[in-house]
Amino acid sequence: MIIRSRNGNDIRPSEITPKQVHMNRRELMGKAAGLGAGALAGGVSLPLASLSSSPAQAAALSFEKGKFSTSEPVTAREYVTTYNNYYEFGVDKGDPGQNAHTLTTKPWTVKVEGLVAKPADYALEDFVKPFTLEQRIYRHRCVEGWSMVIPWVGFPLAKVLERAEPLGSAKFVAFETLMRPAEMPGQRGLFQPLEWPYVEGLRIDEAMHPLTLLATGIFDETLPNQNGAPLRLVVPWKYGFKGIKSIVRIKLVDNVPPTTWNIQNSNEYGFYSNVNPEVDHPRWSQKTERRIGEGGLLVKRRETLPFNGYADEVASLYSGMDLRKFF
Ligand code: MTE
Repeated sequence: MIIRSRNGNDIRPSEITPKQVHMNRRELMGKAAGLGAGALAGGVSLPLASLSSSPAQAAALSFEKGKFSTSEPVTAREYVTTYNNYYEFGVDKGDPGQNAHTLTTKPWTVKVEGLVAKPADYALEDFVKPFTLEQRIYRHRCVEGWSMVIPWVGFPLAKVLERAEPLGSAKFVAFETLMRPAEMPGQRGLFQPLEWPYVEGLRIDEAMHPLTLLATGIFDETLPNQNGAPLRLVVPWKYGFKGIKSIVRIKLVDNVPPTTWNIQNSNEYGFYSNVNPEVDHPRWSQKTERRIGEGGLLVKRRETLPFNGYADEVASLYSGMDLRKFF
């Protein structure tokens, strides 16, 4: 993701922070902005060192092949696990792969609460136990202009919501990531790139849609930490930032919940965040994307498809809505 640029009314960091802090921030902001721009401008190069590093914690998974999988070539595991956005572990794409091993994912509790008949705190094992794991090979489109094809392993979020028995007043679902500064370097220290905890939300019909997954794995292994272990959201027709990682709370609510990137910059990131080549990001076009792993600078960018290619399945959710306004 790309950190918000200053507008004319912002106070300069140098006016409110000591010089050294301000310099560190500028260096980090520059890095983040540069990465986004680089991804947009052309070939994505990965740090070679990170290509060889992979987490040792993964456990093998067994699963069924689910519906809705694309037959497009899957992105190599090395890219999926070393080119990440997970700001709790740093703002560079290689940071989560390098740093996220510090996160302890056992034990893990997921709270399901709010406007439901059956709220509960689940140990992760109990949370997932009733559900059959499925593999879903989905396109994954980042708002920065790059994409991958990822074989997720998980189960429909709808199953979790049905188990909780939503009340009639439940209109939205709010999600929250773990807050644990001791294990998440991005949540401590002087430069904190986002407001924590990371939060996201869906309308209840989006959350109940059969394409919407809670993932516990990728390829044939449990989720590596940098991909959002032990549990993350996957909504394939939306920009990747809706895919909140390391979820600890799912709350059914009656109003639009706050979402991290909208809090960060509401002009650039709306609540819906549907992949839409017709609605430019204020600082760049969304018409095309670079598929990670697809060769060098000369490879043509792909055309971005409405709803990331899932229009047949989801366009009806938004009929009658002005998608320029509800971006
Ligand atoms: N979830 C948390 N908790 N923190 C984050 O920084 N980044 C988001 C999303 N989920 C993020 C997060 C963004 S910007 C993207 S594009 C996707 O995760 C990236 O998922 P990936 O690293 O598995 O490709």
